[in-house]
Amino acid sequence: MLDYQTSTKVVDMQLRLIKLTKQHYNQLAEMIDEWELDQQLNNTNRSPWAIFKNDYHNFDHYLANLDYLHPTETHVPSSTFFLWDEQNNKLLGAVNIRHYLNDYLLQYAGHIGDGIRPTERNKGYGTEMVRLALDECKKLGISKVLMVCDKDNVASAKTIIKNGGVLQNEFVDDNGKVQQRYWINLDK
Ligand SMILES: CC(C)(COP(=O)(O)OP(=O)(O)OC[C@H]1O[C@@H](n2cnc3c(N)ncnc32)[C@H](O)[C@@H]1OP(=O)(O)O)[C@@H](O)C(=O)NCCC(=O)NCCS
Repeated sequence: MLDYQTSTKVVDMQLRLIKLTKQHYNQLAEMIDEWELDQQLNNTNRSPWAIFKNDYHNFDHYLANLDYLHPTETHVPSSTFFLWDEQNNKLLGAVNIRHYLNDYLLQYAGHIGDGIRPTERNKGYGTEMVRLALDECKKLGISKVLMVCDKDNVASAKTIIKNGGVLQNEFVDDNGKVQQRYWINLDK
């Protein structure tokens, strides 16, 4: 049970991270349709990429490829979890956890990619999802978690900082945008 006060509202509901199964097709379709419409209309980002990279209409293929199991030269193993609202049987967002860092992730993307569906943002869910994701990181044996976000993405930066993120540095990416690298120490 989550019960904490954000600056604007109280969140008091049962939230957990789940692995997606065949039973979640309708909830996933509803969430992705909403999210992709928002991306088209507002040119918003596609984070976490893992949930957008395949077409959910081919659901067996979609499910089979949410997690990246076998490392290659460019990809490390990763796991995708969805934020599940138990009371309303609803998916609220998703998070992709990279099991370790390669050179690219260390510099540019970190361990965690996340997103809350557009209609559920700014209600405290993003902060709670990062907290739950850090529990999953601990299970994977990750003691120091790197999260990277666009400096302009104030909401994302706040979810990281509220979960213990300490800014290490900023850099300018290939698109000329300032990115911030935060470390979260789980040893404490
Ligand atoms: C980033 C994201 C996950 C944050 O999730 P969220 O559920 O909106 O975050 P929260 O409700 O927990 O809010 C965290 C803080 O950000 C603030 N915030 C939320 N939306 C905001 C916005 N649009 N502008 C400024 N601040 C915002 C909240 O007020 C809160 O601050 P507070 O604790 O001081 O009150 C969500 O906005 C999102 O999915 N964005 C698109 C995908 C993305 O950018 N992912 C991150 C990739 S690095």
